[in-house]
Amino acid sequence: MNKYRVGILGATGMVGQRFLQLLENHPQFEVTAVAASDRSQGKKYGEACTWRLFGEMPIVARTMAVQAPKPPLDCDLVFSSLPGDIARETEGSFAEAGYPVISNSSAFRMDEDVPLLIPEVNHEHLGLLERQRKRYPSGGYIVTNPNCSTIMIVMALAPLHAMFGVEATVATTLQALSGAGYPGVPSLDILDNVLPYIGGEEEKIETETVKILGRLRSDQIEHAGMKVSAQCHRVNVSDGHMAAIRVKLKREVTVDDLRDAFISYRSLPQELGLYSAPSSPIVVRNEVDRPQPKFDRDAGSGMTITIGRLQPDAVLDYRFVALSHNTIRGAAGAAILNAELLIARGVL
Ligand SMILES: NC(=O)c1ccc[n+]([C@@H]2O[C@H](COP(=O)([O-])OP(=O)(O)OC[C@H]3O[C@@H](n4cnc5c(N)ncnc54)[C@H](OP(=O)(O)O)[C@@H]3O)[C@@H](O)[C@H]2O)c1
Repeated sequence: MNKYRVGILGATGMVGQRFLQLLENHPQFEVTAVAASDRSQGKKYGEACTWRLFGEMPIVARTMAVQAPKPPLDCDLVFSSLPGDIARETEGSFAEAGYPVISNSSAFRMDEDVPLLIPEVNHEHLGLLERQRKRYPSGGYIVTNPNCSTIMIVMALAPLHAMFGVEATVATTLQALSGAGYPGVPSLDILDNVLPYIGGEEEKIETETVKILGRLRSDQIEHAGMKVSAQCHRVNVSDGHMAAIRVKLKREVTVDDLRDAFISYRSLPQELGLYSAPSSPIVVRNEVDRPQPKFDRDAGSGMTITIGRLQPDAVLDYRFVALSHNTIRGAAGAAILNAELLIARGVL
């Protein structure tokens, strides 16, 4: 089978490196173009990129010339991990030029005609792409994945909302350093410290969650009616975001009902056998001291959410802790799974 030729915008960054690593042996995609800022343009990728992942930089990438993130690029679609402030204009220009844009950035996530996609949770939101035909007559379109913490929180809420209805949720996150990109947070700010502020993060969790868990009605999303409250903290961990989550449910259920809902959760990506889909989207740990970033972030090759500390809560109904890999399920892996779904659905 011929592989789809992929361009990566923001290829030298934390998420861009993850894209290259995850796509190295992918059966459906091959990377044919890399783009980054004018600091990197014109250099070979191996010279421009400070490789920050375990394992070696993929050999094919080393000699690729880093280009400007402007169409045309020699590829069939682009994955974007550009900073939010430049993503709107740049991603828009690729969609206008006819490219499918599979984006990690926040720029288009809340646009009414843009799917904010987690394939397990809201694959039917792809119906919004019909509306983008008017915006991009060239045939290009934009599909986004949520913020890295939102993905984890929504995946944990999805089975509960489907089975019991979630009325309200409160999430307190502990977010890894790689979530701030490279070089990210200055070391003197985070050593021996916790930062109780990540710009824009709390708002993203609160607004994105109700869009993703909303329903597609004709050609728009009716946002879910639940209340969402988030507080976000940066902690001294390399990879793996964690969230302490409390939920108020619409029905009375037992702790075993919740555990069963998490464990039995399967959806379209598992049915279709998509390449990056984990066989279990959610695992539940019963040890009192799990999940932990060091031990649980790589569950399901970084695509599985790990839940633990599940117990009744004296204020809301139940509480638990969720953990996921922020640059895999929370970023590059999420976008690649989105693209695999687009192929399976005949959109790509
Ligand atoms: N890190 C995560 O866990 C995570 C999770 C979900 C979503 N995201 C989102 O993904 C995006 C990238 O995050 P990151 O962590 O990979 O950031 P990063 O490490 O700072 O990388 C940013 C990338 O964008 C390029 N870039 C910066 N300014 C540019 C410009 N003016 N024109 C063209 N390219 C430019 C950089 O190129 P140079 O190397 O040449 O400067 C680099 O390749 C952000 O929108 C972020 O919010 C990140």
